[in-house]
Amino acid sequence: MTDDSIVTGAASGSGAATARRLAARGDAVVCADLDGDGAAATAAGLPEATSFTLDVTDEAATDAMVAATLERFGDLHHAVACAGMELHGHSLDFSVEDFRRTVDVNLTGCFLTAQRSARAMRDKGHGGSIVLIGSINSKIALANFAAYVSSKGGVLMLGKGLALDFAEHDIRVNVIGPGVIDTPMSANSIADPVRGAFLMSKTPLGRPGQPEEIAEVAAFLTSEGASFMTGAYVPVDGGWLAG
Ligand SMILES: NC(=O)c1ccc[n+]([C@@H]2O[C@H](COP(=O)([O-])OP(=O)(O)OC[C@H]3O[C@@H](n4cnc5c(N)ncnc54)[C@H](O)[C@@H]3O)[C@@H](O)[C@H]2O)c1
Repeated sequence: MTDDSIVTGAASGSGAATARRLAARGDAVVCADLDGDGAAATAAGLPEATSFTLDVTDEAATDAMVAATLERFGDLHHAVACAGMELHGHSLDFSVEDFRRTVDVNLTGCFLTAQRSARAMRDKGHGGSIVLIGSINSKIALANFAAYVSSKGGVLMLGKGLALDFAEHDIRVNVIGPGVIDTPMSANSIADPVRGAFLMSKTPLGRPGQPEEIAEVAAFLTSEGASFMTGAYVPVDGGWLAG
């Protein structure tokens, strides 16, 4: 039987890789993103997929995404919330608008995707699994990054809170904590000689991770192999948090 999955942030990076990975194991996948053309391009390369344009902070759009999933594929088993953004800036000068937007996209967006997906899973009368993409910054701060680290710290506790609330419906919720991953979000930092050297000095494996290495863990967490895992935080960071 085919599982049906939603992946947000599916236009790019780890979200696109996750959509491809879930499709490779046979899932029907809804590729959702603010970048509708990018989401459509991801979906176009998959055997059974569709795309959806949404801002993950938009309640009505999130409801519409879940409704479209049920209409197209008839069910929903997994949701992976990969959509995210980052803004750098010193906290003395950072605007409250940028702070709110970062928290809204990275934290509230995860909440909305998870809540509306879990309602559909509950209404279908079966369990499911949800993965939220946090960060190493769910655990540790970096300078000039207060809004982002606040949002990702929130994702860590959101995952635990949702895991407790959804367990009675056999819906599991886990958080992945990527380290430095080679995606458009981090490309400039990796390429910058000073910043890139700093990031690699913190990464014992000595290289950026690939989006497929996030996708592989997302696939595991949404598989039967992870059937007793919920409320977990799984770092995928080349060893950064070990040090
Ligand atoms: N790249 C890294 O080094 C790194 C490290 C830790 C965590 N992460 C997290 O991994 C996740 C995936 O990021 P990525 O590295 O693939 O970056 P990316 O920039 O390649 O992809 C992020 C995607 O999210 C989409 N998006 C942004 N705001 C959105 C919104 N409001 N609604 C819907 N979609 C929106 C973008 O359009 C983009 O397609 C993010 O949550 C990010 O914070 C990335």
